[in-house]
Amino acid sequence: MANAGDRRQHHLVLVPCPYQGHLNPMLQLGAALQSTGSFSVTVAHTEFHFPNQSSPPHFDFLPLPDGLSDADKSSRDFVSQILKLNVNCKASFHESLTRLRERTDRQDEIACIIYDGLMYFAEEVARELKIPCIVFRTCSAANTSTYNEYNRLQEEGFIPLQDSKALELVPGLHPLRFKDFPLYKFEGSEKLLPLLKRSNQVGSSVAYLLNTIECLEESPLMKLRQEYPVPFFAIGPLHKIAPPLSSSLIEEDESCITWLNKQAKNSTLYVSLGSVASIDEKEFVEMAWGLANCEQPFLWVVRPGLVRGSDAIDRLPNGFAEIVGERGRVIKWAPQQKVLAHESVGAFWSHCGWNSSLESISEGVPMICTPCFGDQRVNARYLSHVWKVGLLLEDMERGEIERAIKKLMAGEEGEITRQRMTDLKREVMHSIKEGGSSYNSLHELVKYINSL
Ligand code: UDX
Repeated sequence: MANAGDRRQHHLVLVPCPYQGHLNPMLQLGAALQSTGSFSVTVAHTEFHFPNQSSPPHFDFLPLPDGLSDADKSSRDFVSQILKLNVNCKASFHESLTRLRERTDRQDEIACIIYDGLMYFAEEVARELKIPCIVFRTCSAANTSTYNEYNRLQEEGFIPLQDSKALELVPGLHPLRFKDFPLYKFEGSEKLLPLLKRSNQVGSSVAYLLNTIECLEESPLMKLRQEYPVPFFAIGPLHKIAPPLSSSLIEEDESCITWLNKQAKNSTLYVSLGSVASIDEKEFVEMAWGLANCEQPFLWVVRPGLVRGSDAIDRLPNGFAEIVGERGRVIKWAPQQKVLAHESVGAFWSHCGWNSSLESISEGVPMICTPCFGDQRVNARYLSHVWKVGLLLEDMERGEIERAIKKLMAGEEGEITRQRMTDLKREVMHSIKEGGSSYNSLHELVKYINSL
């Protein structure tokens, strides 16, 4: 995109939700917009999970006191954390923005606030201060569209969800079955439901952004465009549009790349369940034996907190290390995008977080899909059933795991799945080239913000 030269830059304030899977796409969005030369960017971030400011891109940061106690911060109840942040951060954000406006001259007035839909306090503050705002949802369009159906499904008696209907298609939301619904088996869904409903409201937002691609989600996007009376921009995959940046909250273990360099092309299974999902010790042990028995090289991310109630990396079963030897590598956190782009990586066993799904598609890496909760269920359904680029693995049992890995990495079905993923990657990457849908969308968004 043309450099702005001496044109004046508009000032954007971004408000991410302070979790890895939300922070990454928001910073990527900021970097993509900043790289157009039209904008300067300030990130208003909670003190909780405050990102490293020393790595690029170089934004201004506005720390928001969040009022979370130590117990709140270490809790695994993310819904309560987000609800508290919305209450606690509103006043500090209001004050910070007021001070920022007093400090800046008219040339640097805030043109727009872009906030994660879960941080809806930002919309309230924007409205009070009469600053235009734009809502950004970091999940898929298909997942977003489920949120608008809760009221209807509740009225029709489908919510609370019933196990007996798990395999039935959700009326009006095909191809999702009830078991693919984000609320399915979600502990604390009575708190989650109002949060999701609120975060899906556009309020005074003047536009809606999604990190997705027209060719992946044409039909859910069409549905959303009918439901929301504001301009809608599908601008993914953002990690491929933005200049490279590092926003990991945990230190990345770069040594795994040296290890990957020694593995044969397409031979290695990369395994990660993302930044928040957790499993119990029994599932962890089954995962370990499935990997030990699969006969393929593997790189397994066992991040702190993955196994409920233990520091799992020290709890690998007896005999695991001896059987696996140099064939497997266990690390705490990976430079995931680099790993997926590595030619040795032949498949990704994933929880199907939306970022992980987009990152795998963008590199043409077929997937084994083990959704844990929430939108991961929706993503897994699309990956395995609609785009047919992943195999579903729901049972964390060592024999099932071994079979799924062999099927994808050594079987005929795996080859077909890999070919489909290669084709999907081509389409997605086409969308970010000049004239492609995401390329056009980003340019339209820039024009739109400049016109506010
Ligand atoms: C959460 C939800 O699980 C997900 O479904 C939702 O879409 C966003 O919030 P998370 O568990 O963090 O996301 O998964 P995901 O969306 O895949 O994001 C994880 C991010 O962390 C990815 O960008 C991935 O590249 C990065 N990551 C993960 C690493 O950099 N290193 C790792 O070792 C693991």
